[in-house]
Amino acid sequence: MLDNPYRLDDRTIIVTGASRGIGAAVARTAARQGANLVLVARSKSALESLADELPTTIRIVDGDVSDTETAERALDAAEEIGSRVWGLVNNAGINPYYGPIVETPLHEWDDVLRVNLLGAAVFARAVGRVMIEHGGGRIVNLGSIAGLTGLPNIGPYNASKAAIDALTRTLAVELGPSGVLVNSIAPGTIRSEMVDGLLTANPALAERLVAKAPIGRVGDCQEAAEPIVFLLTDAASFITGHVLVVDGGRLAAG
Ligand SMILES: NC(=O)c1ccc[n+]([C@@H]2O[C@H](COP(=O)([O-])OP(=O)(O)OC[C@H]3O[C@@H](n4cnc5c(N)ncnc54)[C@H](OP(=O)(O)O)[C@@H]3O)[C@@H](O)[C@H]2O)c1
Repeated sequence: MLDNPYRLDDRTIIVTGASRGIGAAVARTAARQGANLVLVARSKSALESLADELPTTIRIVDGDVSDTETAERALDAAEEIGSRVWGLVNNAGINPYYGPIVETPLHEWDDVLRVNLLGAAVFARAVGRVMIEHGGGRIVNLGSIAGLTGLPNIGPYNASKAAIDALTRTLAVELGPSGVLVNSIAPGTIRSEMVDGLLTANPALAERLVAKAPIGRVGDCQEAAEPIVFLLTDAASFITGHVLVVDGGRLAAG
């Protein structure tokens, strides 16, 4: 345990989907708390720019999260850093399609489930094994309120995020005896590249989302990152198997 339970000094966190959006905000926030980081995504140049601005020891790994080789390279990079492999944030995700399930081509299911679900499982499997050897660790998976509702026209995305919560609970039960705590975060609408396109193309949807949020606005990436980093710290040492909703009250409003 560190003196300050909110610090992450001398601990290495692997963050997937770190090239922009919520993942980049997690990297900045964890580094501010002293964490060393392995940043994973496909855009190497974006990872390099982010690495340049961070104050701790950083390694970057460019690759697809659904590829087991990417996870192995991330672990090699973490080993190179030398501090304990403490955390994994399974943040990489996509939501590129829009349309009702009866009209959804099967390849869209493949694409979304491969990145959002299989990618998280690939990393949890590889990093979880190392955490078991080290006697503990933290995994935070990115779910969504989309996985807790039946939002129309993004069926594969909703299913992938509901599955993330099931993955979280199962990992929490399987890894708890080894000291590995596993939780998911279910953000509401957070301004990022993923949703900007959708909101710009559908101003009426943007208005509806804001109208339904009790605090009257969508969130920003930092507001999603702070609770993720909290779950990585010693301050969250008795929380596991939990889905933390971070949505400005949107779900409560029905
Ligand atoms: N924004 C929201 O409103 C919201 C709400 C609920 C949940 N979430 C979840 O939060 C996470 C982050 O979303 P975001 O809004 O920050 O999205 P974003 O801005 O589109 O960022 C997605 C990140 O995932 C990476 N990525 C995508 N496919 C990948 C792959 N196959 N392999 C490796 N990396 C990949 C992207 O990097 P590259 O393109 O460089 O690979 C990027 O860094 C996602 O899991 C998303 O579902 C977002």
